[in-house]
Parts: sequence; structure tokens; C-alpha cells
Amino acid sequence: MGSVRKAVLPAAGLGTRFLPITKSIPKEMLPLVDKPAIQYVVEEAVTAGITDVLVITGRGKGAIEDHFDRNVELEQVLERSGKHALLAEVAATDQLADVHFVRQHEALGLGHAVSVAEPHVGGEPFVVMLGDDIMVDDAALLTRMLAVHEETGGSVLAVLEVTREEISAYGALTAEPVREGVVRARGVVEKPAPDDAPSTLAVIGRYVFTPGIFDALRETSPGVGGEIQLTDAIGILLEREPVYGVIFRDGRYDAGKKVDFLRANIELGLARDDLRDEIEQMLRVLVRDRGLT
Ligand code: UTP
Repeated sequence: MGSVRKAVLPAAGLGTRFLPITKSIPKEMLPLVDKPAIQYVVEEAVTAGITDVLVITGRGKGAIEDHFDRNVELEQVLERSGKHALLAEVAATDQLADVHFVRQHEALGLGHAVSVAEPHVGGEPFVVMLGDDIMVDDAALLTRMLAVHEETGGSVLAVLEVTREEISAYGALTAEPVREGVVRARGVVEKPAPDDAPSTLAVIGRYVFTPGIFDALRETSPGVGGEIQLTDAIGILLEREPVYGVIFRDGRYDAGKKVDFLRANIELGLARDDLRDEIEQMLRVLVRDRGLT
């Protein structure tokens, strides 16, 4: 296993795109079938060899801490009623990894949230993972990114080819090819208008950073909406150190978009032996009743 041990999961955002549920429930706790989104991300990190997870939380995010803590009362009830499979699932969430929490006191942006992790990750390279991107690829993308980091010592971004209309929702990367599936980053622009976008290579929510990102974040002035943008700090970093992109195609749900979130629920349900038949039947009836064929 490689040398990167720590992952940072920013989860202190206000989640305004999912209001009203996010008024009282953290976006990261929204269920995909029966697991909160953030658990998929922690499991992906662990599969890629990460042993230490730092969640950046804020006001009203207590449910995330509870989820990765023990619930002794619940364990006792399940034990007494002989529900051993459920007991194992409940117990597993607090044994997945060494999960820590730190607060971002004000939602000053994704870049600011990452900078809050500095005392915890110290001088080591680390991973940043965003819960809006749910990967169902057995951590293949993250594993490839960590391998490029091991090989080069540089920071590594996850890159997805999107359409010109879609690029304005992402950071757009200017890059040159290194080899099949790997590029060297030369510039990045946050949410460009489709006509101004320098490329259709979108940066998505998986990153491997050297500690150099913290210096870059310190030098990043607030951008759009007064927020410290991670993209702006990456722009500073790539002027100083090599930054690479790993291009991927499959295995991602954009759980920050409502329709994709619903699709993820259905497809993840279809992947489950205990639910597949009933969901297929539900879909057949739905398609027939709505005349969608
Ligand atoms: P988003 O912009 O997607 O999340 O930030 P948001 O702010 O929660 O959602 P909207 O836009 O209001 O709907 C990407 C990630 O960065 C975290 C979020 O929790 C999310 O995981 N974030 C964002 C922070 O931790 N702190 C911030 O100040 C901003």
C-alpha cells in the first residue's frame, strides 16, 4: 500500500440545492438506499488504502458524528432480538476507519474547509473527497490517482470529459497529455460560461494534494460569493508544483443533482440481491402506467 494515509471529507456546506431537507438533515446524511452518502465515500477511501478520515463539519452536522460513533443501546437491542446481520452492519460503521471531526466555524467555501484540515494532516500528502460525487467503481479511480501520486510526487485531480453546456458547473482544466488517461494540468477556471471554457475537462470531487496546497490556500483571496475557492488555490499550486489529472469515464453519480441522486438510489437498489426483483417490478409497472415505452 502507498504512503497516503489520510483523507479529508469537507461536509460543512449549507446544502442549499437540497433545501428544505438540508434545513435539519446534513446533505451528506441523505440515504442512497439505506446508507448515508458519506458512508459510501468513507468505504471508498478505505478500499483505496486510507486509514484515517477527517470530516470537516459545521453547525447542525451532529448526525454525521453519531453515524460513525457506537450506538450501544441499539447494539444491545439488536443483540437481544437476535438480529445479527443488522448488528454487524451497525457495528461496522464505527470500525471502518479512524474517523475524526473538526469544525469549520463558518461556511467560507470549499477551499477554506480544506485549510481547516492542516493541523490534522500536517506535512503529509492527503486525499480530499467530496460527498456529492458518489463512486461505484471499487475505488478504481482513487487507486489510479494515488498510483500517479506515488510515481510523480505531484498532486492529482480527477478529470471527467463533459459537454460544453455541463462544464459551467465545474472547474475546467487546461492540460496536456502525459500518457493514456493522464494529463499534466496547466490551468484551471471555476465555473466558466460555456463559450469561455478553455476545455471540456471537468475537475470532479476527488483530489490528492501535497501539503503545498495549504500555502496556496493561504494566498487565495475570496472569489465568487466571498468564498475561498479550492479551484483558485489549485491554480496557484500548479504554477509551483506539478499537478496531474487522471481521466475517468464510468462509475460516478453526481449526487448533488436531484435527478442523478434519484437515479443513484434506483441503480444502487438494482445492484442489491435483496431488492432487485421488487424494484424491477416497480419500474415495469411505472413504465407501463405512464406509457413510457
Ligand atoms: P458545494 O457547494 O457542493 O456544497 O460544496 P454546499 O455549499 O453544501 O451546497 P449548495 O451549493 O449550497 O447546494 C462542495 C463540498 O464542499 C463542502 C460541502 O459540504 C460539499 O461537500 N463545503 C462547502 C464545506 O465544507 N464548507 C464550505 O464552506 C463550503
